[in-house]
Amino acid sequence: MIVLAIESSCDETSASVAKDGREILSNVVFSQIDLHETFGGVVPEVASREHVKRITVIIEKALEEADVSVEDIDLVAVTQGPGLIGALLVGINAAKAFAFAHGIPIVGVHHIAGHIYANQIQHELRFPLIALVVSGGHTELIRMQGHYQFEVLGHTHDDAIGEAYDKIARVLGLGYPGGPVIDKLAKEGQPSYDMPNIRTEDPYGFSYSGLKSHVINLIHRERQRGRSVQTVDMAASFQKAAIEHLIEKSRRAVDNTDAGMFLVAGGVAANSLLRERVAQTFTDISYAIPDFEYCTDNAAMMAVAAYYQYTHARQSDSMSLNGYSRLEL
Ligand code: KG4
Ligand code: ZN
Repeated sequence: MIVLAIESSCDETSASVAKDGREILSNVVFSQIDLHETFGGVVPEVASREHVKRITVIIEKALEEADVSVEDIDLVAVTQGPGLIGALLVGINAAKAFAFAHGIPIVGVHHIAGHIYANQIQHELRFPLIALVVSGGHTELIRMQGHYQFEVLGHTHDDAIGEAYDKIARVLGLGYPGGPVIDKLAKEGQPSYDMPNIRTEDPYGFSYSGLKSHVINLIHRERQRGRSVQTVDMAASFQKAAIEHLIEKSRRAVDNTDAGMFLVAGGVAANSLLRERVAQTFTDISYAIPDFEYCTDNAAMMAVAAYYQYTHARQSDSMSLNGYSRLEL
């Protein structure tokens, strides 16, 4: 079964062709990061306009690189949400037009299902499993009993971890997105600044606003006192606290459930300390983290999720398929 998938939920315009939810025939990703960098974050209106400019060419390129023709496509998949509504609608309209013009069924796919299924590209998922989803908009622990069965165990009560990275990077003048820069600087520093212990009532819940405010206040205080902030040490201190919170909750979720596998998904899965700590912590069960190219937003992960959605959940949607900025998994 050959799926053409389109992803445009945030600042990446992407199209991919994949076979049987495993073999990635093409994965074309155009990142708008350079454009948004000057604003210190994604500007929704700018993102939508850029998606409009590129989407057709990117779909054509994905078909060309996969060496398939339109007749070979069995299913068109598109990210339905959550995400920036204007950005989502560009992908959805392109997908609908393509599917309608060629008489191919269409299916809307949840963005987070895509991040989780990015793991299936290199590892066979084994159930039950626990997935830690960490991105610019999400921080959650999900239990899966089987393919396409998602149970959210806990989520962040305030900021997402990626959001905290991005805001702290902005205060430190490091540009957007902050995650990769802080990660790189942290390796050169020592976690010498005191960080608060993050506590949440809920056993699988997360909270990043306290840690974020603590770091931002510390930076301002140091500057007010005329002291220079040791950026590498600040990065190392924040990163250590941020990642340990993920590890603590993830280990608890694995220990308290019957999970035999642990997955990490989403843009923050690219983080070097998280990858290292997962390897050290989950020695007793199998774990998976996607390759870097499949951590941040891409259409290949959506094509894989679409295949499992089609084979294990709903098969197709109607042409009234819509986009949603918020959407339950
Ligand atoms: O999944 P993603 O591409 O987009 C969303 O769906 O949000 O994730 C983007 C987020 C950004 O907040 C970015 O700063 C973060 O992932 N990120 C990282 C790293 N690489 C990307 N955070 C920490 N360490 C990294 N190496
Ligand atoms: Zn994402």
